[in-house]
Amino acid sequence: MRKVPLGESLRIIAQGSVNWFAKRPVVVSFEVTDSCTCFCKHCDHGGDRDESRNMKPSDYNRYMKELRPCVVQVSGGEPLMRPDLLEIVRNIKSDNGLPYTILVSNWSHMTEEKYVQLREAGIDEFCVSLDFPDERHDDFRGLPGLYQHLSEIIPKVAALGHDDIVMNNCITTSNVAEINAVADKAAEWGVNLNYSAYSPRRTGCRDYFLTTPDQLTVLNEQLDRIKSRMDKSHWITNNKSTLDATIKYFTRGGAPDCKAGLRWLVVTSDGSLQPCSMQFKKYGLHEQARMVREFTEKNSCDQCYVSIRSYLDKTFPQLLRENVSEFFSFKPR
Ligand SMILES: C[S@@+](CC[C@H](N)C(=O)[O-])C[C@H]1O[C@@H](n2cnc3c(N)ncnc32)[C@H](O)[C@@H]1O
Ligand code: SF4
Ligand code: SF4
Repeated sequence: MRKVPLGESLRIIAQGSVNWFAKRPVVVSFEVTDSCTCFCKHCDHGGDRDESRNMKPSDYNRYMKELRPCVVQVSGGEPLMRPDLLEIVRNIKSDNGLPYTILVSNWSHMTEEKYVQLREAGIDEFCVSLDFPDERHDDFRGLPGLYQHLSEIIPKVAALGHDDIVMNNCITTSNVAEINAVADKAAEWGVNLNYSAYSPRRTGCRDYFLTTPDQLTVLNEQLDRIKSRMDKSHWITNNKSTLDATIKYFTRGGAPDCKAGLRWLVVTSDGSLQPCSMQFKKYGLHEQARMVREFTEKNSCDQCYVSIRSYLDKTFPQLLRENVSEFFSFKPR
């Protein structure tokens, strides 16, 4: 993965530290639309939704001034469905390069031109979902032709050499045996790869959650191989500790001590604050402290181990150590 320039890294770490101690969110995830181009088997989005109450691009600037996160995710639904996405990104990004801005998308609507424009507008990292290393992705996502499109557009824009694309593979019972095959595909396409874990909370469906000894054995074997591949390369972006915590999450059936609402939060398409994308208690822009008191301090939900948790459930020294060592490491691709 591309190294963030030193000046920008230090600004991110400084702003993150201030927020940590001020009990403000380090990461904010803006769900810029509830509509989606896909109908994924593991998700509660899918198809068109009411767009009439969506925030306008200029509203995002107001939210940034109040919340001041050092990292922002622009997500959804499918964010590329917003015709004014470039303007939204420009309203999120400030002149000093902050926040570090990640577009989380299925890339069904991505083109080379859009990729270049989004980079110029301020996207630092493009997170692209890939559940299978072949056409089974279309079936899981309910969108015929998606895999073919990804197999053309991803290597094409990766060849521009910016090293800012990270494929995200959400581990479920249906694709656990494909973990290394997905890594092969990322290597073939010349992009980075991040693993995350299925949560039954979105849809209530437990079929995709790993529970049986056989499923857990496959998970262990696959992730052991991934860990040995990580020793030689730098393009798998998880930490080994995160992969171990993912195994623990599936084995014990949850991951306790969630800090949603405090260390990160979601802003919904109509501008409400929510602790996370799977907890629907809504608060106003100026009510984060109330959300922490009413939700985070009493939260016993352990039903996901999504990537954002794997980064922010850590102690402050651990988070700082991992980010600083990440910055100064120069392992080959
Ligand atoms: C909700 S989607 C929104 C952005 C975009 N539509 C996409 O799919 O990348 C963000 C991420 O959540 C993941 N996701 C969806 N349902 C999930 C679930 N039940 N558990 C864990 N991750 C899930 C997706 O695979 C995707 O990587
Ligand atoms: S995971 Fe993303 S692409 Fe799939 S339905 Fe949910 S929001 Fe849409
Ligand atoms: S564990 Fe935390 S982030 Fe995950 S669904 Fe529960 S409250 Fe949300």
